[in-house]
Amino acid sequence: MSPRPYVNPLRQEQDRRLPRIAGPCGMVLFGVTGDLSRKKLMPAIYDLANRGLLPPGFSLVGFARRDWADQDFAQIVHDSVKEHARTEFREEVWNQLAEGFRFVSGSFDDDHAFEELRRTVEELDDVRGTGGNYAFYLAIPPGGFGTVADQLHKHGLAESTEDTWRRVVIEKPFGHDLASARELNSALDAVFPPSTIFRIDHYLGKETVQNILATRFANTMFEPLWNNKYVDHVQITMAEDAGIGGRAGYYDGIGAARDVIQNHLLQLMALVAMEEPTSFEAEPLRIEKQKLLSSIRLPRRLDRGTARGQYAAGWAGGVKVLGFTEEEGIPARSHTETYAALTLHVENRRWAGVPFYLRTGKRLGRRVTEVAVVFKRAVHQPFTATSVEDLTQNALVIRIQPDEGMTLRFGAKVPGTAMEIRDVNMDFAYGGTFTESSPEAYERLILDVLLGDPPLFPRHEEVELSWKILDPVLDRWADAGKPEDYTPGTWGPASADEMLARDGRVWRRP
Ligand code: BG6
Repeated sequence: MSPRPYVNPLRQEQDRRLPRIAGPCGMVLFGVTGDLSRKKLMPAIYDLANRGLLPPGFSLVGFARRDWADQDFAQIVHDSVKEHARTEFREEVWNQLAEGFRFVSGSFDDDHAFEELRRTVEELDDVRGTGGNYAFYLAIPPGGFGTVADQLHKHGLAESTEDTWRRVVIEKPFGHDLASARELNSALDAVFPPSTIFRIDHYLGKETVQNILATRFANTMFEPLWNNKYVDHVQITMAEDAGIGGRAGYYDGIGAARDVIQNHLLQLMALVAMEEPTSFEAEPLRIEKQKLLSSIRLPRRLDRGTARGQYAAGWAGGVKVLGFTEEEGIPARSHTETYAALTLHVENRRWAGVPFYLRTGKRLGRRVTEVAVVFKRAVHQPFTATSVEDLTQNALVIRIQPDEGMTLRFGAKVPGTAMEIRDVNMDFAYGGTFTESSPEAYERLILDVLLGDPPLFPRHEEVELSWKILDPVLDRWADAGKPEDYTPGTWGPASADEMLARDGRVWRRP
């Protein structure tokens, strides 16, 4: 009989099956007219209320320049919930939630508006019992973070007391390089203590991303292979079939590397490659991620170990689509990349010699995010009908989205008299295994903010380390002219294939 697993007796006892419900609180949302609020945040708040995870008096205050009354704001939230919420619409849930909606009209530098905000929050404390606990969600361009933080401070809205909490939530981009990330952080840090700043990387809120930790650390069969003795290389892909949509203003000058690699893909890499944390609480988790991020190295020759591209005009899903530089709001001479690929090395004992290839792009073959751990070939094989070279390599593919699940690829004997080996797949699909559907990433993350539960929020040091990795690449690209064109619906520019071919490898075609 195998011994029972060790459980740390000092760990606080808590029944994990009980739902985690936020205590009395409210949220102030800056940037209510933006896409993020409409498509993700408002629906997520409703879904949380519908699942019974918000306190009965939960209140939502919208802040924007529009000349709206509370009812106009409620209508905007209503439309967004009807269109984008994950769970069914229930009149009684909606009515209770909508009673706590308020709107404050003003610009970020408007003192009267912030006074009005303070009065509104106090009124809600009285009539809705929000208990003085507020999260300020800045779904606005980062240029506004400093001003809003100062205003919140100036009008007595930013400080927590012994019995009340105040938190601030920010969305990427956390700067556009290391220096600006530091500036941005100082502006926030001057007002909010680090433990009250919640940086959203919505990938960390995805069930399948959290499952990377479960796969690695709740099982015995993967971790022994998770090193340079068995792993040949790792491919992390986040591909989108869509173009930039209406986000020209945000995207131009930012590009694929800043938009996705600096945050989502480096966080994924950290979870895949880090050592086991002592627990999944914030501090131990962040320590391991930071250790990993600080041991990442770029290849010596950036021209050979990186690739970038820009989508040209063409066809996507049977529809004629514009090239990136023809999109509305994008200058014809824009050098912004819509595809980026990097080779990264991890300088530690576990991963020395194992390249991690990261890629992301718009207008690619299909929308898919996955982590593929590709294993080394068997060093010797005694079969005559199939040579070692004919076999593809064993791989564990963690499918982040869509079609969430995992695939294990390995060789099996083809039925017949010859000992012929062919690759087969063993599959685990969330859809077919669990009856519960996965919550949206923003549901989980907003709930964690309201509960003050920080493990899924990267801290400033991680943001800095990620920029340190990326800055030399961005500097090089800034001087390298226009990125290479690629055809919509393909898997990116030829230079990305050449990057892997130099290492004797090929990208997966998910
Ligand atoms: C965002 C990027 O962070 O993630 C977008 O800014 C991208 O450019 C989006 O489209 C993709 O998110 P998801 O959850 O659909 O993979």
